[in-house]
Amino acid sequence: PMYLSDDPPTLGAIAELFPMLGIGGYYSGPRFCKARQSTAVIIPYRDREVHLRHWLHYTLGTLVKQQLEFTVFVVEQEGIDVFNKGQLMNTAFLWAQRQTRVKFQCFIFHDVDMIPEIVGNFYTCADGKAVKHLSPYIDKFNYTTNKKIGVTVGGAVAFTEWQYRAVNGYSNVYWGWGGEDDDMNLRIKLTGLRRIRPDSNYGRYKMIPHEHDGGNPMNKQRHKLLKEAKMRMARDGLGDLATQIVAVSLHPTHTHILVRLNVPHLPWL
Ligand code: BGC
Repeated sequence: PMYLSDDPPTLGAIAELFPMLGIGGYYSGPRFCKARQSTAVIIPYRDREVHLRHWLHYTLGTLVKQQLEFTVFVVEQEGIDVFNKGQLMNTAFLWAQRQTRVKFQCFIFHDVDMIPEIVGNFYTCADGKAVKHLSPYIDKFNYTTNKKIGVTVGGAVAFTEWQYRAVNGYSNVYWGWGGEDDDMNLRIKLTGLRRIRPDSNYGRYKMIPHEHDGGNPMNKQRHKLLKEAKMRMARDGLGDLATQIVAVSLHPTHTHILVRLNVPHLPWL
């Protein structure tokens, strides 16, 4: 198991630990060979600086050791409205994929509180129809795939550009905690894609313990929304995303994208 201190290094100190990263946290890969894939790690974020510092402190080293070409994108929701992970992830995907600096082949959607414990759990995508769920074994659940985790693709999941477009990205309609990953799981099945996972020696994660997040209340409507997931899928997602990028800033360890969402009136909140 992995133990985390209460006070991870500051972003500045982390930047000093990883001088091999370029502007915006871009790592071009090892010096004497070319990485086979370029990976965009996309982390939906708000108000979790300590988690982000832990995450970068541990995971940047793992990614460099894996000899990947990569950039970490931290995509933050502006304001104090209820959180919407799906919209943030879709926005970051489109931005990362549209910018011309690097052509990313692999997009990994990642929770900020999930830290990979095993360096050999590769942050790359599988070919063809296999979507790779990287994080099935979590310390909080004694590294067993409990029933709940077993049915979702939460935590960390890797799509090629083609796979992510084929499922129309994440659903945009899940506000607050829960459901967007269950919905994605359905999309994967309905699109005829497969889900693969590393075995229990590799797919191991530390979940950073934390209190429930006030800006991200549990979505009690999620089961109801899931029932209509199939009907919604063709239009709800990348296709009808209506967000606005407020700012993009290039930090030494990552690229930060600030996003404004169109928040509807949610009768249940
Ligand atoms: C939630 C998912 C979550 C899963 C495992 C489900 O009830 O809807 O978002 O990943 O539980 O905790």
